[in-house]
Amino acid sequence: MSELPPLQKILVTGGAGYIGSHVIYTLQKTRRYKVISLDNGHNSHPTALSRVSALSRSELPENASARDIETTEIDSHSCDLTRRDEIRTVFEKYGKGGIWAVIHVAAYKAVGESVEFPLTYYENNVTATLFLLQTMAEFDCTRIVYSSSATVYGVPPIIPIPETTLLKADSPYGKTKVMSETMLDDLCHADSKWSAISLRIFNPAGAHPSGQIGEDPKGRPGNLLPLLAHMAVGRVDATTLKIFGNDYPTPDGTCVRDYLHILDLAAGHLLALEALSPESKLFDSTPDARYKAYNLGQGRGISVLEIVDAMRKATGFDFKYEILGRRRGDVPDLTADPALAEKELGFKANQDLAIMCRDLWTFQSKNIDG
Ligand SMILES: NC(=O)c1ccc[n+]([C@@H]2O[C@H](COP(=O)([O-])OP(=O)(O)OC[C@H]3O[C@@H](n4cnc5c(N)ncnc54)[C@H](O)[C@@H]3O)[C@@H](O)[C@H]2O)c1
Repeated sequence: MSELPPLQKILVTGGAGYIGSHVIYTLQKTRRYKVISLDNGHNSHPTALSRVSALSRSELPENASARDIETTEIDSHSCDLTRRDEIRTVFEKYGKGGIWAVIHVAAYKAVGESVEFPLTYYENNVTATLFLLQTMAEFDCTRIVYSSSATVYGVPPIIPIPETTLLKADSPYGKTKVMSETMLDDLCHADSKWSAISLRIFNPAGAHPSGQIGEDPKGRPGNLLPLLAHMAVGRVDATTLKIFGNDYPTPDGTCVRDYLHILDLAAGHLLALEALSPESKLFDSTPDARYKAYNLGQGRGISVLEIVDAMRKATGFDFKYEILGRRRGDVPDLTADPALAEKELGFKANQDLAIMCRDLWTFQSKNIDG
C-alpha cells in the first residue's frame, strides 16, 4: 500500500477565539490538516482549544486511524503577534516550508474601542499583520487567508455591497482591515510566490449545534446576538436592550445587517484555503497578482427588531427594549452581495436566522458562565 503524504500544517492565528475555533473545527473535519494555533488569550479562554479537539475526536469513527486521530490534535502556542520574537519561535519549530499556509484571524474587533484607542488597534491589527507576513516570508510560507471585515466599506453607496465598492472605512478598526488587505495586495503584486485571499466577513452568529463550542467573549459582549444570549441567562445586568434609532431608511426603521452561521463562515475559510493550492485555477483571471477579496455574507439584510424577535422565539425570554436616538457611526444597512464568492469559491451561507439563534442558545444555555 502506498504511504500517504504527511498532513499539511495550517497555522490559525486567533485560533482560540470565536471564528478561529470554528475554523479549526472545520479544518479538522476534513482530516487532511494538522492545525497549529497561535493566540495570546486577549479574548479567549484556556479551555477553548481542548473543547474543539474533544468535539472533533467525538466525531471520529471507532476504527479511526492514528493519522485521523492526529488531525484532531492541535499544536497550541501562546504567542502575541505584536512580538516578532514570539512569532519566530512558532515558525522555527516547523522550519522553512514547514507551515503550508496561514489563516490569519487574530485581531481586535470593537469599532467603538478603536475610536477611543486608535494606536492600540493599529499596533494589534496592522503591526501584527506586518510582523506575521515578514516572518512567513523568512520561513517560505507564502499562502494566507485573511479574516477581513465588512467595515472596510464604511457607508457603502450600493446595497447589496459588491466587492468593487471603494474601500472607505470610517473607524480606526475598519482602517486597520483596509491597511492589512492593502499589504497583502501589494505583496502579491510584488512577488509571484505569494497568494492571498481576504474574506470580508459580515455578521457571524450561532455556534456548533452540539453547544460544545461557541462564542464566549471576555466581558460584556459587543455584538447584538451574544448580548441577547447573555441577557437571557442573566449574565449581564441589563434587563432592557437599548436600540439606537428606529428612523433609518430600512423596512422597520432599525439598522440592518447581514448575518451568517458561524459554520458557514468557517466553511468559507476552508474554501479560500483550498483555493490557494497550486492546482487551483482561481488566480488565472488575475495574472499580475495572486490576490482576491470576497464578501462572506448571506446576501439578506436582517434588522435589529427581527433579531430580537428571533431570539425571543429561540430562548422563550421576553426581551424588553427601549428606542434611543441614533448612535454616531452606525450605518443603516450593511448587506453583502455574496455572488462573487459563490461563483469563484463555491461559497453559500445556507443556514437561516432561526438556526443561528437555536445554536447560539444551545451553546449559551449549556455554558451559562462561559
Ligand atoms: N465576530 C465578528 O462579528 C466579526 C465580523 C467581521 C470580521 N471579524 C474579524 O474576524 C476576526 C476574528 O473575530 P472573532 O469574532 O473570532 O474575535 P475573537 O476576539 O473571538 O477572536 C480573536 C482572537 O485573536 C486573539 N488575539 C487578538 N490579538 C492577538 C495578538 N496580538 N496575538 C495573538 N492573538 C491575538 C484573541 O485572544 C482572540 O482569541 C477578527 O479579525 C475580526 O476583525 C469578526
